[in-house]
Amino acid sequence: MKCRQVLIPILFFSMNAPADEANYDEAKIPEFTLPEVMRFESGEPVLTPGDWLKRRSEILDLFAVHVFGHTPESAKGHPLMASETQVIPDFLEGKAILKEVSLSFPKHDHAPVINLLLITPKGKSAAPVFLGFNFRGNHTVHADPRITLSGSWMRPDKEGRVVDHRATEKSRGTSANRWPVDKIIAQGFGLAVIYYGDIDPDFDDGFENGVHSVFGKPREDEWGSIGTWSWGLSRALDYLETDDSVDGERVAVFGHSRLGKTSLWAGAQDERFALVISNNSGCGGAALSRRAYGETVKRINTSFPHWFNDRFPSYNDDLNALPVDQHQLIALMAPRPVYVASAVEDRWADPRGEFLSAREGSAPWALFGKVGIGVEEMPETNKPVGDHVGYHVRSGKHDVTDYDWDQYIDFAKRHFQP
Ligand code: GCU
Repeated sequence: MKCRQVLIPILFFSMNAPADEANYDEAKIPEFTLPEVMRFESGEPVLTPGDWLKRRSEILDLFAVHVFGHTPESAKGHPLMASETQVIPDFLEGKAILKEVSLSFPKHDHAPVINLLLITPKGKSAAPVFLGFNFRGNHTVHADPRITLSGSWMRPDKEGRVVDHRATEKSRGTSANRWPVDKIIAQGFGLAVIYYGDIDPDFDDGFENGVHSVFGKPREDEWGSIGTWSWGLSRALDYLETDDSVDGERVAVFGHSRLGKTSLWAGAQDERFALVISNNSGCGGAALSRRAYGETVKRINTSFPHWFNDRFPSYNDDLNALPVDQHQLIALMAPRPVYVASAVEDRWADPRGEFLSAREGSAPWALFGKVGIGVEEMPETNKPVGDHVGYHVRSGKHDVTDYDWDQYIDFAKRHFQP
């Protein structure tokens, strides 16, 4: 199948518009042609599953070179030491087992410790698991006071629940609305979470802290924070593969917003992730960069200079020169299932750009006798579509809701069936 080219007429749009003047007008989207999914860089067509695997590594490398940066050789597959620090056998009124596991770097005194929280259904071995980062500490995912309060660096919050960059008791359970633990467990899944700041605190410190204290300051072609966070998800998977309560072959990697950009990059690099979910990931995640709708590449590289590699900003004012676009990131999951979710009011993340990415990235599944998204038109609000590439745009704002989780659970059930 040949990748269609998307041509959208331009009326007027200046890529030099001040960073705070986001475009929300479809008529002002610049004209562009998307880079091909189903052709090698040489121009040769991709015709067989074997071709796809080669084309896949070509695209993966392009994303590392131009967007996210390479993982340093010293970090690739670097083993961490896992120790169980707490087990709560009667979590959720006896329906689940909660385990806290610390993943640490042997022989590095100043290295961060990565704290994994794993909740699995009681009486079930080898459960499929959703793995994802949280924004404010594992103790925010559920209000149970037995969960260890994170001692890691935190961004302050407006409500004063973080003092001097340290979480306080007041922050327990404050993200619980984004993590419907009861529902996940009741449906037979486990949930594994990590605070993303355990890997690399989310501020631009010139790459001194987090895992950079072990692997050193990245070279200019090496990873930014999204790369380090993705690496952390793979190290969590290393552990999950060894835990009897988890089926290591049915781990779905999930992420919201910047952490959705991260789950996509983790799923692209590490094919052990059996399913990949991006929730409202926007620019640098599922949304097409060339549309420059809502958040642009220039804006993201200016606001968050530590997220990507040093090459990505060179495309700030010339997106047509960027050798990749984000539909190719979605394609990198093929032939595994991937789900992209948008929210109507989350215009900053460009819901339509996320849909187009899922659609334009769907071609490789056909080579495996599978259907990708299977629709041409963006679906109505709250009407999920797709087969191996799932998509919905729900009503409401930038967030993770029960509606989103209902779709992820259904999608995972469908694809994780023996
Ligand atoms: C900002 C940023 C987005 C990001 C979001 C988040 O809005 O511009 O790119 O997805 O933060 O992670 O919450």
